[in-house]
Amino acid sequence: MSDHELRVSKIRDGTVIDHIAGGQALNVLAILGVDAASGDTVSVAMDVPSDRLGTKDIVKVEGRELSQDEVDVLSLIAPAATINIVRDFDVVEKHRVESPEEVVGVLSCPNRHCITTGDEPVDTRFDVLGDGIRCQYCETIVREEIADHIVVG
Ligand code: CTP
Ligand code: ZN
Repeated sequence: MSDHELRVSKIRDGTVIDHIAGGQALNVLAILGVDAASGDTVSVAMDVPSDRLGTKDIVKVEGRELSQDEVDVLSLIAPAATINIVRDFDVVEKHRVESPEEVVGVLSCPNRHCITTGDEPVDTRFDVLGDGIRCQYCETIVREEIADHIVVG
């Protein structure tokens, strides 16, 4: 890679989410709960030319690795993403995200009568279908704009 292609710095320790479909970086940040109050050091590159994807986004989170629940939801909006674990500047682990059978937490159910949207805290659980997700409690199916149902914070 030539110098003029290096858009964001390498990180020392943390996680690089690479090969995110162009335009999905902000949704990835929402899944990770990154905002001004989260205290995470994050860098984002958007619309980087990619042979495989046309354009791609890259998100680098310093000093933290992702939970399986976060990776599971990521796979729904960035199915081609690779997760790179970086330690002392080296990529020590690299894996593709895989679509899980269910996603727990992170997404909210759009049905306001669903048990998960009441006052009692109940983690959301969705079955992953080929073309969407289905709430395990009320069977509401979400097919489009899954990212709109990310619980921020
Ligand atoms: N990276 C980083 N900081 C490091 C090491 C790597 O930010 N200390 C980033 C790279 O810039 C790249 C990603 O992590 O976006 C994966 O790094 P690497 O495996 O070295 O790159 P590639 O071989 O190009 O990855 P792939 O084959 O998955 O496309
Ligand atoms: Zn529901």
